[in-house]
Amino acid sequence: MTAQQSVRGDVAVLVPAAGLGVRLGPGPAKALRLLLGEPLLVHAVRRLAAAPSVGLIVVAAPPEAVAEVTELLTGKVTVVPGGATRQASVAAALAAVPDRYPIVLVHDAARALAPPELVERVADAVRRGHPAVIPVLPVVDTIKQVDSGGEVIGTVDRAVLRAVQTPQGFRREVLAAAHASAVDDLTDDAGLAEKIGVPVSTVPGDEAALKITRPLDLALAELLVRRTLAE
Ligand code: CTP
Ligand code: MG
Repeated sequence: MTAQQSVRGDVAVLVPAAGLGVRLGPGPAKALRLLLGEPLLVHAVRRLAAAPSVGLIVVAAPPEAVAEVTELLTGKVTVVPGGATRQASVAAALAAVPDRYPIVLVHDAARALAPPELVERVADAVRRGHPAVIPVLPVVDTIKQVDSGGEVIGTVDRAVLRAVQTPQGFRREVLAAAHASAVDDLTDDAGLAEKIGVPVSTVPGDEAALKITRPLDLALAELLVRRTLAE
């Protein structure tokens, strides 16, 4: 095996995809919005399925769109109804993973262009013994801490900060324990693991794994896909 040990099929990926996409403006659920003619979810699942480690993909779909989403996706995919929060959607997807997968990744459908190489990088770090792994990028903006009135309290040292992406990777039992102990609704599964004292490691993220949140992100994603097609 090479530096990145790829063990075919030992990874299940949970894909929370039940969000509304309110910040994208009026339209269908975000995972079903089109990017160059195809739903974001189709872009996301295609890239996940191209990673050799991935043996199963469990999508948490908008409850009213389970049949539609099942129809859209082929291959090693299971579709379950998502919940009212991202965390509930992840928990619903986790419950559908058979015991034979020792590694579970969680990946937002909204990060539709995360490349297979990033999936392998995260899975590989878990396989090498890290119980929880997150992909991160350096923070490019200067960050200020402000009070409730908007007055600056101080400048945070950017060098110690990282922006966090998905897929996030876990030993399966670690993710299960983290979710079982969850009280608040966090936007980040590694945050739940931190709360129960699990060490969380980082690997380099990828700019293509940007989260599509606002209309400008969708335009940027379109540009990225066109550029890849032109290569
Ligand atoms: N998500 C989910 N179930 C929910 C809420 C969010 O599965 N009840 C998923 C989204 O589909 C998305 C990911 O969690 O893939 C990250 O959430 P976000 O980017 O906030 O997406 P939305 O909640 O759809 O967007 P918005 O907050 O603008 O409505
Ligand atoms: Mg949201």
